[in-house]
Amino acid sequence: MTLDLPLFNLREFEQAARDRLDPVHHDYFAGGAQDEHTVRANESAFAAINLVPRILRGAQPPALEVGLLGCQSAMPVLMAPTAFHRLAHPEAELATVRAAARAEVIMTVAMLSTVAVERIAEEARGVLGDADPKLWFQLYPQPDQEFTRALVQRAESAGCRALVVTVDSAALGRHERNDRNDFHQLPEDIQCENLRGLGGSDSGNVRRVTLSPEVSWRHIELLREMTRLPIVLKGVLHPADARLAVDNGADAILVSNHGGRQLDTTPATIAQLPVLADAVGGRIPILLDGGVRRGTDVVKALALGADAVALGRPIVWGLAAGGEDGVAKVLDLMRFELDNALTLCGVSTPKEITRDLVLLPGQASC
Ligand SMILES: Cc1cc2nc3c(=O)[nH]c(=O)nc-3n(C[C@H](O)[C@H](O)[C@H](O)COP(=O)(O)O)c2cc1C
Repeated sequence: MTLDLPLFNLREFEQAARDRLDPVHHDYFAGGAQDEHTVRANESAFAAINLVPRILRGAQPPALEVGLLGCQSAMPVLMAPTAFHRLAHPEAELATVRAAARAEVIMTVAMLSTVAVERIAEEARGVLGDADPKLWFQLYPQPDQEFTRALVQRAESAGCRALVVTVDSAALGRHERNDRNDFHQLPEDIQCENLRGLGGSDSGNVRRVTLSPEVSWRHIELLREMTRLPIVLKGVLHPADARLAVDNGADAILVSNHGGRQLDTTPATIAQLPVLADAVGGRIPILLDGGVRRGTDVVKALALGADAVALGRPIVWGLAAGGEDGVAKVLDLMRFELDNALTLCGVSTPKEITRDLVLLPGQASC
């Protein structure tokens, strides 16, 4: 690790990022919808869950690798899609993907990335040599099918191995921090490169993306017909929707409230996970994001039914604090903490994590 910063946990990365970022951009990354209740709840709900470790199990040192939708990841921790990395660091998504490739974890490329998906894949290949990059592509499904099709084909030909379809965005959540800062337009030198040339325009303007209440299960069906890539539905919170996701052929769900950036006062994702895991009943994998900041948080999510978790803001903090090395250190810290937490729980692999290792708030005993 070459990053010359004395940062010992993700919280310290958050502070380092705050110190380095333009305050308006910091507000964009840190902020959430309205009163930001859900932003805070995502983190505090993890803290309110206890771990109840087992002892004297003679366990092997942990092996953290997991397989997800045909993709191996060095640990059950992925990168969630976050837009506009160039606002955090001039090397933007290129720095992020090099760190992901070094750590052998899956990076979800945002549809609104500031480097084109093909270029991101090429950069990953530069680190990995012949090995296939571990890239997934996030999509806001568009009412315009040809727009969606063009993006899906682009992601597929670039070598992305799953589509993460964000379904919690019938409209944009209201971020009062951005309103206060009058931050509604990207600086002129920053473009959403995946949108260039789409719909006859090459403006690359973020405003070409439609967030529409008209998007429905029919669009997921059309997407299914468009691609053979596994489809992950991102933003599932209601158990009825988790069942519909399975019935409509989703390959996985990502339990997410968009990091508290869409509808404020939705439950913390970790609090909602058990009911969603019951609804899915093991038929498809479950991923979770929102407030994951510690290795112990990963153990809690896996104990309550997730197969893996994803990091949103912490990746941006790493990028802002130290570019590629900053992101690499964030991932290293998560890996170290997860290894340590598993060892202290008496568990050797993510699959061995069981429900009885956690105590929910108000639960008398495990
Ligand atoms: C700055 C920022 C940009 C984001 N951009 C997107 C996006 O373009 N598409 C998307 O599906 N989710 C986006 N998200 C949501 C993340 O994928 C993820 O759900 C959330 O950040 C997880 O919570 P965490 O930040 O507490 O880890 C964004 C989140 C942040 C903080």
